[in-house]
Order: sequence, then structure tokens, then C-alpha cells
Amino acid sequence: MSTNNTTTSAYTDFHLQFIAGEWQTGKDDSSNTNTNPYNGDTLVEIQQATKGQLNEAYDAATQAQEAWAKQTPATRAAVLYKVVNILDQRQEEIVDWLIKESGSTRIKAMVEFSATRAITLEAATFPNRVHGEIRPSNTPGKENFIYREPIGVVAVISPWNFPLHLTQRSIAPALALGNAVVLKPASDTPVTGGLLLAKVFEEAGLPKGLLNVVVGSGSEIGDAIVEHKAPSLVSFTGSTSVGKHIGELANGGEYIKQVALELGGNSPFVVLKDADIEQAVKAAAFGKFLHQGQICIAINRVIVEDEIYDDFVERFLAHVKTLNVGDPNKQDTAVGPIINEKQVKSLKEKIAKAQEEGAKMILSGEIQGQVVPPHIFTEVTREMDLSRNEVFGPLVGIIRAKDEDDALSIANDSMYGLSSAVFTADMQKGLRFARGIRAGMTHINDISVNDESNTPFGGEKNSGIGRFNGEWVLEEFTRTHWISMQNEPREYPF
Ligand code: TAP
Repeated sequence: MSTNNTTTSAYTDFHLQFIAGEWQTGKDDSSNTNTNPYNGDTLVEIQQATKGQLNEAYDAATQAQEAWAKQTPATRAAVLYKVVNILDQRQEEIVDWLIKESGSTRIKAMVEFSATRAITLEAATFPNRVHGEIRPSNTPGKENFIYREPIGVVAVISPWNFPLHLTQRSIAPALALGNAVVLKPASDTPVTGGLLLAKVFEEAGLPKGLLNVVVGSGSEIGDAIVEHKAPSLVSFTGSTSVGKHIGELANGGEYIKQVALELGGNSPFVVLKDADIEQAVKAAAFGKFLHQGQICIAINRVIVEDEIYDDFVERFLAHVKTLNVGDPNKQDTAVGPIINEKQVKSLKEKIAKAQEEGAKMILSGEIQGQVVPPHIFTEVTREMDLSRNEVFGPLVGIIRAKDEDDALSIANDSMYGLSSAVFTADMQKGLRFARGIRAGMTHINDISVNDESNTPFGGEKNSGIGRFNGEWVLEEFTRTHWISMQNEPREYPF
């Protein structure tokens, strides 16, 4: 991968909306003040979009999509490859935005940049990978063709935690497959979750109208985005509560549409008694505290077999105490700031509740501004709030399991089913255990935080429906069309 090109001048004008290929001022009375979660600096003030501007975006997308779908696969692929080149040239600029806008540590920003680059490269192969089928017919003289066509206009609503990657994971495949996109980034990350990518696609020569970025509050324009006639698919990544609401709107309104929902998680991280404890400790710390635990696939519950519980706890505590906490821009910071005040408040409530419920707090620290240091709780039970609900912060509860069966039962005792992990020295046991977990993803001897552009990413239960990456997203963002051809006159009963 090449690094930044110093001759490239940094993108500007992030106070504007990107609609119908033009950078325009939002027409709503309200504005979005985009701040740095670490030091409170104002980064940009964006006048929000109105529903009228949303309609304009959908009109432009609908119009542009038809011609785009007719372009050769090579033409569409070329735009995606150009996007990869631009990402490489602007790597430092993008990483800098991730740090200052989303509170990413340098380590996390690089992880996110690499994942974004990887899915863009994968998407560049989609125009030439999409294919139909010919199926036999039981009707004499008939041929069955199954076509895969672009789905049309895709609405994308993305979150603030991995804004660049989780947005690009939807928009790059959507565009590569001949669709147009109307995107609403999260209000905490309008730049890295949308406007920055619009600049990149514009520079790469994506025709006007195919990608629209509408900055506005979910509570104001969210419903209108989903209920609009234009999108055939709503690709949403965010909380389970908003996801449920979107699912209801998409299937209960005037226009029925498909939904892809990537929602919350409650990933178990299971350490069995024969595991390499030192390796499990390091994995638990990284998988829990990367991006301050604000990842849907972050470790949410650490479940340790009784025999090694005390040993694990002692070593985990010692390791976590060595983590640097604070300025995300410093190379060696492991735990940076929480995205906003509301999330900090929710974490304070969780800390209080864990203590009320009888968990033992063995590590804490002073919350300074939006920086919450790691908190570790032991003697946590499966009934406690820390186990039942998604934490989305640097707090972790460690649960004692009687044995392997008990560990599996605890791991599965959740309404979520996104990611999971198990540590053991016995790979066969690990595989058996992994297959017993009801989740979309399980990693043996690794953390629950994994995403590869060619493997299916997604969950079940309240973690959502649909899969990203590889062939799975290729199916998600295309429609299936059965066309039969009757080559000789068919005999009808009447
Ligand atoms: P949400 O509050 O659900 O926000 C996600 C997106 O939905 C934002 O763009 C938000 O806009 C928008 N939104 C809010 N209300 C809406 C409505 N009524 N209609 C349409 N859109 C609406 O989640 P969050 O706070 O950004 O992220 C935290 C949660 O998301 C966690 O539970 C986490 O697990 C989950 N998450 C899941 C994944 C995956 S891959 N499964 C990835 C990241 C996050 P505003 O910002 O303007 O409110």
C-alpha cells in the first residue's frame, strides 16, 4: 500500500451537503456542530438538510442509476479502483479525520482505514463477478434464466463508531453493482461517515447523482429516508432499537422494501481451562478496549472456566493497568475518548448499576471529560445488566463458568447473536464449541473483532438480518429476476 502524497491538497468545504453531484448549503433552520470528542474543538458547522433536499437527492439518484447500470463492468470497476488509489494517497488526511472526528486512537484509525480500503478493493471485483444462472425446466420447450440486476436506489444509514468503514461497506458494493445511493451519516460523524467519501468518489470520477450525502438528524429525516418511494433497499447499521423501527417502517408503510440490518451485539469471549492464558489475556484486552469498546463486535462478556478464573483475572488486571489512556492522537494511546456526553452518561449509569447488582469493581479510574478509563468487574453473573446488555464502552464484566457446558450455556444466553470467540488449546474442542454458539461469527483463539472483505459479516437474533462482504453482499445489493423463454407452443389445459 502506498502512503500519503504530500502534493495532494486536503479536502475542504465539509459544511456543505452533497446532493445531485453538487455541494450545496443545507436549507434547514437547524445546524450540526461537529466537535472533536477529545478536546471539544469545533471541526465544522453544517446546516442540516430539509426533506425537500432529501427528495432532490432521491430524484437525482433515481435518474442517474439507469445509465450507471448500463455502463460496462470495466467502467464501474475503474471508478472503484480509482477510489482505492485516492484512499492511499490521502491516508494520513483520512486517519487524521478519524482521530479528530470519531475519537479513534491511531491504532483504531489504521485498522479502520485498512478495512475500508479492503472492502473497496473487493467491491471493485463485483462488476465482473455478478452472474446469472440457467435452470432446467419441467415444462417442455421452456428455458429458465435467472438474472441478477442492480436493485436500484439504496438508502444507507450509518453509525458513528466505524463511520468510514461501515459506510463504505454499504456504498462501495452498492455502487459497484450498478446502484445509486442516498446516504445519511450519523450526526456525530458527518465527515468520516459520508462527506469525506463523497469527496473521494467525486475525485474518482463517479458520475453526478449516484452518491448523495444528506446530513440531518435521524429523528428528523430518518423516517422520510426509509418511507420514500425511491429506495428498494435500506441498508442500516446502528442500534437494535432504531433498526427495529426501520424494519417496521420498511415493511409496514406504503412502499415495501428490503432491509439489511446490522445491529447491536453482546459478544461472548470464552476462555476454557486448557487455553493459553497469557494469549487470552492479551486478546481480551485488545478485543474489549479497541475504540474504547464502542464496536458492535467488541467483547461484551468475558466467560472464564472456574479452574483458571482467578489466574485469568489477576493477569488481565495487571495487563489492562499498563494500557495508556487519553489523547487518541498519541501513537501509544490504547483507550481514547467516548464519542459524546450522552454515551458517557450511559456508561456512568452502567458502572453504578454493576456495583448495585453486586459485581466487584477491581479496576476503575477518574472520568476526565469524555475519557473513561477501563473498568473491570468480577463475580459478574449472567443476570446482571453488564451481561444482558450491550455496554459500548470500556467496561467489562468477567463471568465464572462451572465447566465447558456452562460456558456455552452462558455464551448463548443472549438476545443478540453477532460475534463471539473461544480460547482453547484443543482445536477440535474449539470447533465443537464454536458450532454450538448461536451467532453469525465465531473466532477460535482470536478476538470477536474480525472483519474480512471476503467473508460473511452479520448476525442473527436481535443483531440483525443480512450479510456484508464477498458474495453475500453481492446478493444483498442485487435483485433476482427469473425470466423464462417458451421456445415451442405450450399445451394449456383449457
Ligand atoms: P443509532 O442511534 O441507531 O444510530 C445509527 C444511525 O441511525 C445514525 O445515522 C442515526 O442518525 C440514525 N437514526 C437515528 N434515529 C433514526 C430514525 N428514527 N430513523 C432513521 N435513522 C435514524 O446507533 P449509534 O448510536 O450510531 O450506534 C450505536 C449502536 O449501533 C450500538 O448499539 C451498536 O452495537 C450498533 N452498531 C452496530 C453495528 C453493526 S455492524 N452491527 C455497527 C456499529 C454500531 P443520528 O446520528 O442523526 O441520530
